[in-house]
Amino acid sequence: GAPVEVDIATLQPGEMRTVEWRGKPVWILKRTPEMVASLKKTDDKVADADSKRNPAEFTPEYCMNEWRSIKPEILVAVGICTHLGCSPSSKFTPGPQPSLPDDWEGGFLCPCHGSTFDMAGRVFKNKPAPDNLQVPRHMYLSDTKLVIG
Ligand code: FES
Repeated sequence: GAPVEVDIATLQPGEMRTVEWRGKPVWILKRTPEMVASLKKTDDKVADADSKRNPAEFTPEYCMNEWRSIKPEILVAVGICTHLGCSPSSKFTPGPQPSLPDDWEGGFLCPCHGSTFDMAGRVFKNKPAPDNLQVPRHMYLSDTKLVIG
Protein backbone atom coordinates (compact mmCIF):
# COMPACT_ATOMS: atom_id res chain seq x y z
CA GLY A 1 0.00 0.00 0.00
CA ALA A 2 1.04 3.56 -0.69
CA PRO A 3 1.96 5.95 2.11
CA VAL A 4 -0.86 8.25 3.19
CA GLU A 5 -0.25 11.96 3.62
CA VAL A 6 -2.30 13.79 6.26
CA ASP A 7 -2.52 17.50 7.01
CA ILE A 8 -2.99 17.94 10.76
CA ALA A 9 -2.90 21.75 10.82
CA THR A 10 -6.51 22.02 11.99
CA LEU A 11 -6.41 19.13 14.48
CA GLN A 12 -7.41 20.51 17.88
CA PRO A 13 -6.15 19.33 21.29
CA GLY A 14 -8.33 16.40 22.34
CA GLU A 15 -9.43 15.72 18.76
CA MET A 16 -8.87 12.40 17.01
CA ARG A 17 -9.01 11.79 13.29
CA THR A 18 -9.10 8.40 11.61
CA VAL A 19 -7.49 7.82 8.23
CA GLU A 20 -7.26 4.63 6.23
CA TRP A 21 -3.88 3.10 5.52
CA ARG A 22 -3.48 -0.35 3.92
CA GLY A 23 -7.14 -1.00 4.65
CA LYS A 24 -6.64 -0.32 8.36
CA PRO A 25 -7.94 2.56 10.45
CA VAL A 26 -5.13 4.74 11.75
CA TRP A 27 -5.88 7.15 14.55
CA ILE A 28 -4.22 10.52 14.77
CA LEU A 29 -4.91 11.99 18.18
CA LYS A 30 -3.72 15.38 19.33
CA ARG A 31 -3.32 14.79 23.05
CA THR A 32 -4.03 17.58 25.49
CA PRO A 33 -1.36 18.36 28.13
CA GLU A 34 -3.54 16.40 30.61
CA MET A 35 -3.57 13.40 28.29
CA VAL A 36 0.21 13.54 27.94
CA ALA A 37 0.56 13.84 31.74
CA SER A 38 -1.74 10.83 32.26
CA LEU A 39 0.93 8.56 30.76
CA LYS A 40 3.09 8.94 33.87
CA LYS A 41 0.18 7.70 35.98
CA THR A 42 -0.49 4.64 33.84
CA ASP A 43 3.20 3.63 33.56
CA ASP A 44 2.97 1.01 36.32
CA LYS A 45 -0.50 -0.22 35.31
CA VAL A 46 0.28 -1.18 31.74
CA ALA A 47 1.74 -4.54 30.74
CA ASP A 48 4.55 -3.27 28.50
CA ALA A 49 5.31 0.29 29.56
CA ASP A 50 8.45 0.63 27.44
CA SER A 51 7.02 -1.14 24.38
CA LYS A 52 9.73 -3.79 24.53
CA ARG A 53 7.56 -6.62 23.23
CA ASN A 54 7.75 -7.18 19.50
CA PRO A 55 9.15 -3.70 18.83
CA ALA A 56 9.74 -4.49 15.17
CA GLU A 57 6.03 -5.02 14.70
CA PHE A 58 4.44 -2.61 17.16
CA THR A 59 6.69 0.35 17.90
CA PRO A 60 9.20 1.98 15.52
CA GLU A 61 12.47 2.82 17.28
CA TYR A 62 11.85 6.58 17.03
CA CYS A 63 8.66 6.06 19.06
CA MET A 64 10.33 4.00 21.80
CA ASN A 65 9.84 6.76 24.33
CA GLU A 66 7.39 7.67 27.08
CA TRP A 67 4.78 8.90 24.58
CA ARG A 68 5.18 6.22 21.89
CA SER A 69 5.31 9.04 19.38
CA ILE A 70 7.57 11.50 17.58
CA LYS A 71 5.89 14.58 19.06
CA PRO A 72 4.67 14.20 22.64
CA GLU A 73 1.18 15.44 21.79
CA ILE A 74 0.53 13.51 18.57
CA LEU A 75 -0.34 9.83 18.86
CA VAL A 76 -0.43 7.83 15.64
CA ALA A 77 -1.75 4.30 16.18
CA VAL A 78 -3.56 1.55 14.31
CA GLY A 79 -7.08 1.37 15.74
CA ILE A 80 -7.25 -2.43 15.81
CA CYS A 81 -7.18 -4.41 19.05
CA THR A 82 -4.13 -6.71 19.25
CA HIS A 83 -6.32 -9.47 20.71
CA LEU A 84 -8.73 -10.53 17.97
CA GLY A 85 -8.95 -7.42 15.87
CA CYS A 86 -12.00 -5.50 17.10
CA SER A 87 -12.09 -1.71 17.05
CA PRO A 88 -11.47 -0.11 20.44
CA SER A 89 -13.52 3.00 21.17
CA SER A 90 -12.14 6.19 22.62
CA LYS A 91 -12.91 6.78 26.30
CA PHE A 92 -11.07 10.02 26.86
CA THR A 93 -12.95 11.25 29.92
CA PRO A 94 -11.10 10.30 33.10
CA GLY A 95 -12.97 8.88 36.08
CA PRO A 96 -15.61 6.22 36.65
CA GLN A 97 -17.57 5.06 33.62
CA PRO A 98 -19.27 1.77 32.80
CA SER A 99 -16.72 -1.05 32.19
CA LEU A 100 -13.82 1.13 33.30
CA PRO A 101 -11.88 1.27 36.57
CA ASP A 102 -12.57 4.14 38.98
CA ASP A 103 -9.05 5.46 38.51
CA TRP A 104 -9.42 5.55 34.72
CA GLU A 105 -7.08 8.18 33.23
CA GLY A 106 -8.49 8.12 29.72
CA GLY A 107 -7.68 5.91 26.77
CA PHE A 108 -9.45 3.23 24.77
CA LEU A 109 -11.76 0.30 25.51
CA CYS A 110 -12.19 -2.70 23.26
CA PRO A 111 -15.86 -3.74 23.37
CA CYS A 112 -15.21 -7.37 22.42
CA HIS A 113 -13.39 -8.76 25.48
CA GLY A 114 -12.69 -5.67 27.55
CA SER A 115 -9.07 -4.88 26.81
CA THR A 116 -8.21 -1.35 27.83
CA PHE A 117 -5.43 0.86 26.51
CA ASP A 118 -3.99 4.12 27.81
CA MET A 119 -3.54 7.40 25.94
CA ALA A 120 -0.45 5.95 24.21
CA GLY A 121 -2.23 2.75 23.18
CA ARG A 122 -0.45 0.73 25.86
CA VAL A 123 -2.48 -2.26 27.01
CA PHE A 124 -3.33 -2.45 30.69
CA LYS A 125 -2.19 -5.47 32.71
CA ASN A 126 -4.22 -8.67 32.87
CA LYS A 127 -6.18 -7.98 29.70
CA PRO A 128 -6.67 -10.39 26.81
CA ALA A 129 -4.83 -8.20 24.30
CA PRO A 130 -1.17 -9.37 24.24
CA ASP A 131 0.39 -6.22 22.82
CA ASN A 132 0.17 -2.47 22.74
CA LEU A 133 -1.66 -0.98 19.77
CA GLN A 134 0.57 -0.79 16.73
CA VAL A 135 2.29 2.49 15.98
CA PRO A 136 2.77 2.45 12.20
CA ARG A 137 5.92 3.83 10.61
CA HIS A 138 5.39 7.53 10.01
CA MET A 139 7.26 10.81 9.64
CA TYR A 140 6.66 14.54 9.40
CA LEU A 141 7.24 16.35 6.11
CA SER A 142 6.66 19.63 7.92
CA ASP A 143 5.26 20.69 11.26
CA THR A 144 1.72 19.86 10.16
CA LYS A 145 2.21 17.33 7.34
CA LEU A 146 2.37 13.73 8.37
CA VAL A 147 3.10 10.70 6.20
CA ILE A 148 1.97 7.28 7.34
CA GLY A 149 3.65 4.22 5.86
FE1 FES B 1 -10.20 -6.63 21.75
FE2 FES B 1 -10.64 -9.21 22.29
S1 FES B 1 -10.63 -8.23 20.36
S2 FES B 1 -10.28 -7.59 23.68
